[in-house]
Amino acid sequence: MDNQKVLKDITKEIELASSQDQLQKIKVAYLGKKGKITDLLKSLKNLSIEEKKSKGAEINLLREKALFLFESKLKHIKTSEINSKLNSEFIDITFPPPHLIDAKIHPISKTFDEVISIFGSMGYTVAEGPDIETDFFNFSALNIPEDHPAREMQDTFYIEDKDEKGKPLVLRTHTSPVQIRTLLNEKPPIKIIAPGRTYRCDSDSTHSPMFHQVEGLFINENANMGDLKGTLIEFCKQFFEVQDLKVRFRPSYFPFTEPSAEMDIAYEIVDNKMHIGKGEKWLEILGCGMVNPVVLENCKLDSLKFQGFAFGMGLDRITMLKQGLTDIRSFFSGNLNWLAKHGFSLGEY
Ligand code: DAH
Repeated sequence: MDNQKVLKDITKEIELASSQDQLQKIKVAYLGKKGKITDLLKSLKNLSIEEKKSKGAEINLLREKALFLFESKLKHIKTSEINSKLNSEFIDITFPPPHLIDAKIHPISKTFDEVISIFGSMGYTVAEGPDIETDFFNFSALNIPEDHPAREMQDTFYIEDKDEKGKPLVLRTHTSPVQIRTLLNEKPPIKIIAPGRTYRCDSDSTHSPMFHQVEGLFINENANMGDLKGTLIEFCKQFFEVQDLKVRFRPSYFPFTEPSAEMDIAYEIVDNKMHIGKGEKWLEILGCGMVNPVVLENCKLDSLKFQGFAFGMGLDRITMLKQGLTDIRSFFSGNLNWLAKHGFSLGEY
């Protein structure tokens, strides 16, 4: 058979092949044990040495050309197979526009944003501290010594690991340790809030072992109780969206403030609905007071020169009040149906 004819045939067949399977069949038909090119090579054995040399070289050249054609077509087929797979399995991973997102913002996250925004508008910046604290920051620097009953007031989660002084580490029971961290690291005037997670061994419809607080601290040379009251009343008016808000401050006790107070807001229930800001009933929402000079001295600040106020508020509680929710445990149940009902769309922000 004529080499040129074989090359022509093979070129045409390879050109028409559209799958790896077809291509393999053609390859066997030409280069397999009984293939056409293999036959040509076999036929050489009857020729003279001279003829073997020249014909052999021609057939080998034909064989190489054929192999080259197969290889290039194989590459081509593989590439187009991958491309068509990519096209048919295409997934749009770009983020959809906000109005198409079905996700909801958790009520607690919304409260965090609102608290930061309201205090931010009064000039407060956000400070942070770790969830795992030392005895010094969580208790002793805050004037809560070892045998102090306040330690029992806060059912503490202790951790097996110990701090440098050999005392067990704790899951912070309040955000107040951030006061100490800030007082040790910054110079007055200081004006911070510290929202974050806190932990106590307690669980029922109004207590969760993990909950949220925001701490506030304002230190300069003349801040007073009037500034404290004004700040907190303004915050509550904005947060609860009630301009005419009835509140009261009751004397209280905290080791880290002197004098100390608790703030209550008035409420009433009409037609089974709670109205915040007026009425004859009271809800306690936060603790506050003038920073105890002992705390300032613990942080190497001159308590004759500097003074200020602090406050601590439960964020879960004010969220429940504002949103009319009654069970704190539902916040942390991870139930998507609950979130769909009580969460907030991006559009509501
Ligand atoms: N740390 C207190 C608690 O968790 C709350 C608190 C009360 C914080 C009075 C303060 C404060 O900064 O002045 O119960």
